[in-house]
Amino acid sequence: MTGNEVKQNLTEGGGGSSASSGNNRATALVCGGAGCRSSGCAEIKDTLERRLKHHDLEGEVQIIETGCMGPCSLGPLVVIYPEGVFYKELQPEDAQEIVDEHLLKGRKVERLLVEKPEARQEIKHSIEELEFFKKQRKVALENCGIIDPSNIEEYIARDGYRALGTALTEMKPQEVVKLIKDSGLRGRGGAGFPTGLKWELTAKAADEPKYVVCNADEGDPGAFMDRSILEGDPHRVLEAMTIAGYAIGAGSGYIYVRAEYPMAIDHLQTAIEEARHYGLLGEDVFEQDFQFDIEIRVGAGSFVCGEETALMHSIEGKRGMPTPRPPYPAQKGLWNQPTLLNNVETYANVPNIVRNGAEWFNSMGTENSPGTKVFALAGDVRNTGLVEIPMGITLRELVYDIGGGIPEGKDFKAAQTGGPSGGCVTEENLDMPIDYESLQEVGSIMGSGGLIVMDESTCMVDVAKFFMDFIVDESCGQCTPCRDGTKQMYDILNRITAGEGEPKDIERLRELSETIKKTSFCGLGKTAPNPVLSTLDNFEEEYRAHVEDKRCPAGVCQGLLSYSIDPQECIGCSRCAESCPVDAIDGEPGGVYQIDGDTCIKCDNCFQVCPVNAVSRS
Ligand SMILES: Cc1cc2nc3c(=O)[nH]c(=O)nc-3n(C[C@H](O)[C@H](O)[C@H](O)COP(=O)(O)O)c2cc1C
Repeated sequence: MTGNEVKQNLTEGGGGSSASSGNNRATALVCGGAGCRSSGCAEIKDTLERRLKHHDLEGEVQIIETGCMGPCSLGPLVVIYPEGVFYKELQPEDAQEIVDEHLLKGRKVERLLVEKPEARQEIKHSIEELEFFKKQRKVALENCGIIDPSNIEEYIARDGYRALGTALTEMKPQEVVKLIKDSGLRGRGGAGFPTGLKWELTAKAADEPKYVVCNADEGDPGAFMDRSILEGDPHRVLEAMTIAGYAIGAGSGYIYVRAEYPMAIDHLQTAIEEARHYGLLGEDVFEQDFQFDIEIRVGAGSFVCGEETALMHSIEGKRGMPTPRPPYPAQKGLWNQPTLLNNVETYANVPNIVRNGAEWFNSMGTENSPGTKVFALAGDVRNTGLVEIPMGITLRELVYDIGGGIPEGKDFKAAQTGGPSGGCVTEENLDMPIDYESLQEVGSIMGSGGLIVMDESTCMVDVAKFFMDFIVDESCGQCTPCRDGTKQMYDILNRITAGEGEPKDIERLRELSETIKKTSFCGLGKTAPNPVLSTLDNFEEEYRAHVEDKRCPAGVCQGLLSYSIDPQECIGCSRCAESCPVDAIDGEPGGVYQIDGDTCIKCDNCFQVCPVNAVSRS
């Protein structure tokens, strides 16, 4: 397709997206996000296709595999349009029933809807009615779970590339920069730096050539926001990078994607080829005197490669190690040339800002944190998955209204935000608005969007140890405080959780934290102690219970547990003794068994196998 044809297509509103496809009686969208893929969506799609063929309905019903729809814990998911009926937790035989009942006879399969049919008035039929979506506001994720990511026409049909057309044909580069500045968009990769200011600094840099870089290294444990955008809506990022190229005067761009995301890489590669074919990348973009192209660089498999200076070294083919800033990438970035580097989600907001204006964008969110934020909601919460919320809603709304609350009637203990650089937000701050400043005030950070909910059965010392273990693995080893200091912190935490801690360890952890924060070379070390400091500030009594009373209040740390058998409950079945690898359990079948605490290695086997819960663990 030529640039003119694209323009015409855009002006006329394009073809049709999956959900509203013109020629078909119905469309079945099958969620192809990471969670649904691992729970078997490929089989669901196959069954739908086979059954439609069986009924001779292939020409009437279209099946599309989309990117992530969001509610991962309910997968595999299928949504049937035009009604938008949402089916969850599907097995292949359910897919067959959806075809036989819904698509053939127009009858919804109620047992597969979100609420159980017993409470008929509570059945949620359509996607708009689900509590999970009600408080969300989709901007960066507006097409995820709705379009076929490997079909550019579906993106175009949903206003895709219209922003690029507007920027190239109706705006000067400075006007684009001003628009992004006025929108108040802040970097979604962690630090929240004002995006427009970064664009302005790079645009003003005199040196040429300039580069545009997209950071898709996404290394925080549990985070999959950027992955979902790239897998589910890759053209959005290409369009934004091209707009950025025009705004700052760059002719080429790189997307640095972590190697563990093969589908994101595949979808991006397809999208780049399609965009080139449609005249939206390459020479004379949109038939204007503007050239811009994008290449993919596959990540080097290390968390620190997400740090911007390390990332650029890695693109240059060097070892991905951080270097000091200044100079900032806007002055000297890739190959020492001015470089604009933003995160995937930051870019994903740009087309909407250009299409709808700065005022539209900052009408969402709060004064200092306009817009929305995507979170990967995980942990002890009913509805885990991918959510996009307007900034400023409370953590309570996120955990209880969108997340559906804590399972098994347990109490909320804390939410960890910001991954290995972040901290935890406790129950007393559940009504705090989610924005950059509020999170910082309570000792955490927004980070890139990982949000782990923890219930009362979580040990906060163990959580701190988990993140420190991650940092020890991922420290690049270049500077001593980060390389050796974090290892020392990990060793102390390990001792504490093994029951070998001493009261002085708490002070040692604080001292090491301060030194590492002050003296580390890059952001990794400077923020590495945060999870320890935050858990110490909020849960010091839990650390004290470990070191002073040799007790883990949450009953998690194996080294601090003791096992015993209640003689009143024991039925003498001998399973505990048979499962014990060190013969620490004595007794005769039919009698009462006993555990020798000195021999016990706390492997938990006896607790797991006892059929009458006679083994207690405290
Ligand atoms: C150790 C470390 C890892 C990082 N990993 C990422 C990452 O995976 N993705 C990302 O966008 N930013 C990451 N950052 C932040 C980047 O250095 C940079 O600030 C960001 O990509 C800028 O984009 P933004 O302004 O759009 O947020 C990391 C920073 C540090 C210190």
